[in-house]
Amino acid sequence: MAAVAKEQPISRRARLFVALDLPDELREGIVAWGREALADPALRPVAPESLHITLAFLGHRDEEEIEEIAAVVRENAGPARWVELLDPEQRPPRGRARVFTLPVLSPGTEALQAGVAQGLVAGGFFESEKRAFWPHVTVARVRSEGRGSRRPAVVSEPPGKLPKGLSEARICRRMTLYRSELKPTGARYVPLAQAELPG
Ligand code: 2AM
Repeated sequence: MAAVAKEQPISRRARLFVALDLPDELREGIVAWGREALADPALRPVAPESLHITLAFLGHRDEEEIEEIAAVVRENAGPARWVELLDPEQRPPRGRARVFTLPVLSPGTEALQAGVAQGLVAGGFFESEKRAFWPHVTVARVRSEGRGSRRPAVVSEPPGKLPKGLSEARICRRMTLYRSELKPTGARYVPLAQAELPG
């Protein structure tokens, strides 16, 4: 058995997603707002470097495919995209929240997502989701109620509205292919390839 196993190629898998990155000043603004708005002890605010708009979640793919996936991302880059952040919403919308997100208003991001998704589907790297693309930035996840429980804790002070400065339209100039590494302390997102969006 051992000899057979040795002869088989070792195919390593990576958990991948493509995202539109937010400009630094927007991430800093979200972090500053979150110091108070996301201070409830049941919340785990997302680290500044992990704030993004997911365009396509690919799940586990062979590491050997990364170069081709990166090429699809670069080919579908197109111009920079304007985004507007909306007030926080909980997900799921009813019952106990699992995450808090800022929905994003951005026809440009929707067009970008459609193009990238199409390219990834054509390459056999992605299956389009049945539900419509819903652009958003996840800003906090809810801790579990207790050890071993999958039920989220109660959030007594959910985040309120965004200040005016954060809801102004901003331009996003970079799209990134990330590898998500799951750790006991939370996920870490490692950039593998980036496409600058001109304009
Ligand atoms: P979220 O922000 O709504 O949690 C890395 O996990 C990124 O991929 C996250 O931004 C996450 O979205 C997104 N994603 C989309 N579908 C996912 C899935 N089925 N499992 C995990 N992450 C997913």
